[in-house]
Amino acid sequence: MIPFSPPHIDDKIIDEVVATLKSGWITTGPRTKLFEKKISEFCGISETLAVSSATAGLELILRWFGVKEGDEVILPAYTYAATANVIIHCGAKPVFVDTNKSDFNISIEKIKSAITEHTKVIMPVDFAGLPCDYNEINELVNSTEQKDKFNAETDEQKKLGRVLVLSDAAHSLGATYNGKKTGNLTDITVFSFHAVKNLTTSEGGAILFNLPHPFNNNELYKWFTIIGLHGQNKDALAKTKIGNWKYDIITAGYKANMTDIAAAMGLVELERYENEILTKRKSIFTKYSEAFKLNKHIDIPLYEQENKESSYHVYALRLNNATVEQRDEIMQKIFAKGVSVNVHFIPVPMMSFYKSLGYNIDDYPIAKSNFEREISLPVYYTLSEENQQVVINAVIESINEILG
Ligand SMILES: Cc1ncc(COP(=O)(O)O)c(C=O)c1O
Repeated sequence: MIPFSPPHIDDKIIDEVVATLKSGWITTGPRTKLFEKKISEFCGISETLAVSSATAGLELILRWFGVKEGDEVILPAYTYAATANVIIHCGAKPVFVDTNKSDFNISIEKIKSAITEHTKVIMPVDFAGLPCDYNEINELVNSTEQKDKFNAETDEQKKLGRVLVLSDAAHSLGATYNGKKTGNLTDITVFSFHAVKNLTTSEGGAILFNLPHPFNNNELYKWFTIIGLHGQNKDALAKTKIGNWKYDIITAGYKANMTDIAAAMGLVELERYENEILTKRKSIFTKYSEAFKLNKHIDIPLYEQENKESSYHVYALRLNNATVEQRDEIMQKIFAKGVSVNVHFIPVPMMSFYKSLGYNIDDYPIAKSNFEREISLPVYYTLSEENQQVVINAVIESINEILG
């Protein structure tokens, strides 16, 4: 069976993890700090905080910005539940909006009609690794009309004076938009390093601070190292220094720090990310698209545009004119031919919990149609050319068996 997305664990990763285990320091420490520095350099910004997951990172930001009951946060209907759950945790209301037809990302027009005086944050999601239209989103929140509408309640909200843009870039490390990398495209960006992501630390994430003046991103970074670790004014490593055992809790913080074991994996992966991992993923995308582009049943995904390049995270093809039942049958046929495939995502308004809150997928017809026609194909570093061809043949034959 060709797996969907196995992690790439080679001797380099194993050696670095073992070296960490033997170093006597396994939680947040020198490797985490180095990983943060390297992520900042890679993305072209100055401040990155490594955290335990993207979900933890997104929630820390919403809480820091004071998002609470009565507030609204705009997000695409087409995302993983993590993006919405953190809004619920804060007691606020997720305001789902529909996606574009050409790709799977949040529609700017739909954001415009969803903003109200209760909106505190917009969370665009770079689906499959393709950056959202950040110029348009940044311009929108900075427009006089929207700033006038913004109801600042907390100190942070007053300081920003407008809706915060919190990019859920769980998929898009290394993607570019107008020549800049994700992390450097809007106020705050959060990456995921979960096991199936392009760069994995087994579990993990990062928050990239890029807030405009008068915010001081370095001070914010320091503050987040505290609120991401119980509100403790010294981390565990600092406390081990001779005579430095005393500490204080200066706020009721959270627990979201990354371990040095995770960072060890991240450091190895980041070193080879651009030249090896992204290059390989791109070559697989290109091979698939070459094979499918003339097939009348297949709508190949968008991953390169004049001003955007994806991080090649998910190869999300869409079937033309197929029902959801036909899509499911095609997937079964592909599995039967020894190839694991997937669907990204079941839109959040289709989930039981969100349905129980009154959300209805029929209110997001493009997201619904994208979901019903989508199939994600295997893409990973060790996928051989021979197996890429097995995937292609399995997809084409299965589609022909069902759609003729
Ligand atoms: C779009 C999106 N956002 C957030 C997350 C959450 O990431 P993590 O598992 O690191 O918390 C995921 C994970 O799959 C995701 O796909």
